[in-house]
Amino acid sequence: MSLFSLVYVSFSAHTMTEDELRAILTKARTFNQPHGITGMLLYRDDFFIQALEGEQETVMALYEKIAQDPRHHHILIIHQEPIQNRCFSQWSMGFNHISDAHVEEVEGFSTFLEDTRDMRFFSTQPSRATQLLESFKDHVYF
Ligand SMILES: Cc1cc2nc3c(=O)[nH]c(=O)nc-3n(C[C@H](O)[C@H](O)[C@H](O)COP(=O)(O)O)c2cc1C
Repeated sequence: MSLFSLVYVSFSAHTMTEDELRAILTKARTFNQPHGITGMLLYRDDFFIQALEGEQETVMALYEKIAQDPRHHHILIIHQEPIQNRCFSQWSMGFNHISDAHVEEVEGFSTFLEDTRDMRFFSTQPSRATQLLESFKDHVYF
């Protein structure tokens, strides 16, 4: 099986409540676990970032489905590549909120969130996204 990783960013259609986030995660895990998908979803101030890992065709088909979801928009793939090992092997989909401390760790991220909201912040430098996601590798909220 060839492993593949895809990272995208998006904006939520409205500010998500805790219950709405939990509903997304429950649905995600129900599908992901039996389909060999692992990953991480982060959220803050209407901004989503998600990593999906698994067999390439499964990841792409899932991404196509997620991209149609009206709960978010301006979806942009910022990174996709074959991988040797999973980064989020322990999570069928981990979730966490992005804290102030994490915002400060990525240079320019606070300006992006509070001001520009221009996804080129991530697409021109995908490592900003992977750095952020990987910092949550061992930390999930639910
Ligand atoms: C930000 C976000 C992330 C999502 N992540 C996943 C996911 O990892 N796996 C999944 O199966 N669905 C995920 N979903 C839900 C899908 O977009 C979609 O609602 C679901 O796959 C529909 O399944 P159904 O066609 O069986 O009803 C996510 C939705 C949003 C808004």
